[in-house]
Amino acid sequence: MPARDLDQIVNLCKRRGFVYPSAEIYGGFRSSYDYGPLGSLLLRNVKDAWIRTMVQLRDDVVLIDAAILGPPAVWEASGHLANFADPLVDCRVCKNRFREDHLEDPHVCPHCGAKDSLTDARAFNLMFKTYAGPVEGEGAEVYLRPETAQGMFVNFANVLQTTRKKPPFGIAQVGKSFRNEITPANFIFRTREFEQMELEFFVPPEDGPRWYEYWCTERMNWYADLGVPAEMLRLRPHDEDELSHYSAGTADVEFLFPWGWGELEGIAQRTDYDLVQHAKHSGEKLEYFDQASGRRYVPYVVEPAAGATRTMAAFLLAAYDEDEIGGEARTVLRLHPRLAPYKVAVLPLSKKETLAPLAQDVRRRVGERWLVDFDDTQSIGRRYRRQDEIGTPYCVTVDFESLEDNAVTIRERDTTEQVRVPIDVLVRELSERLGL
Ligand code: GAP
Repeated sequence: MPARDLDQIVNLCKRRGFVYPSAEIYGGFRSSYDYGPLGSLLLRNVKDAWIRTMVQLRDDVVLIDAAILGPPAVWEASGHLANFADPLVDCRVCKNRFREDHLEDPHVCPHCGAKDSLTDARAFNLMFKTYAGPVEGEGAEVYLRPETAQGMFVNFANVLQTTRKKPPFGIAQVGKSFRNEITPANFIFRTREFEQMELEFFVPPEDGPRWYEYWCTERMNWYADLGVPAEMLRLRPHDEDELSHYSAGTADVEFLFPWGWGELEGIAQRTDYDLVQHAKHSGEKLEYFDQASGRRYVPYVVEPAAGATRTMAAFLLAAYDEDEIGGEARTVLRLHPRLAPYKVAVLPLSKKETLAPLAQDVRRRVGERWLVDFDDTQSIGRRYRRQDEIGTPYCVTVDFESLEDNAVTIRERDTTEQVRVPIDVLVRELSERLGL
């Protein structure tokens, strides 16, 4: 059964080295997190799984990695300077600040309960501003990107020229984005610094609706294929009044978090909004000329925009389980092998020198192919539990018999079943079982 309580995951993440509060020795830094030895691997695997599906397995999508710092002109054109804001109210009594659209009762302060103490809403822009170069002030302002998407739009002409792609085609990017969120909350669900995985898919205008349907289905399948149970996933179309300033239609992929349904990804019909805006502001032509038909047009964009860090939280929550093995309680992360930080753990039964060379040889063979944890401390039972708790799909035990029969024992995380396998075919056997 998946985690019922966010604390189950927060504690496991801290205990096992997935995620730590940032700058913890200084008391932590609100809403910032550091990804530890296991968390950095898991996060990388989430991003790699996305790139594999969205780029590697397709012929119509290319990957870029654009700058995080951008000049105001980009954000002026995209509409973020004018529109990327939350409505904020202040309580005149307790002086706390809230998002108006998060209030349960617009007349009551959610902190101190005072009636009619809230000010009128003011728009608060969510972008982080800083200065480039040694002089602060006008002309030196730059912004940290609040989405990776604009990197794809401002590079549209570059990519078109250098790759010879033609619509329908996509530009993908994975990387950090920054938003000065008023209410960061729920662990890594909403933070000020986070990672996104976004695709801008450029299509002939009349094909927009068809590709929107296509990407809604594809994206739902991605989460399901990586092990999120169907009952924890849903696709929710936005109401008119929820739509972003650029969107002609959006649906959210939502996950059932312990506090209710929450967005993992938005799939939006951005129409030609961004290319038209950037063409207007930059003076560059951002259109496609179809030589075969002689037609010139500005492509429409369908955008599946997911959060990598938020999705990592969802994968952890969905994979979390507690069961009993031989009358003993255990915690197990039933992560998809593609996501698991370590695919295999090599566990010599004893630290004795007679076993060490063979154990190291097995470690080297398996480690050539996948990330491996090598652990020769504590009892074998405790080492299995530890690997279960961090989601390692297979443990390989090297014992004294291995010196005689040149074979090892593979133990499966989910069923705890064990099978003896010759070392010569170990990597092939693991590969078949992992599906990797
Ligand atoms: N380019 C469109 C765009 O950025 P979005 O819905 O604002 O759309 C896409 O963001 C995804 O990025 C969200 O579905 C979410 O997964 C992730 N995301 C957005 N803000 C976040 C935050 N403060 N913390 C963590 N993830 C966030």
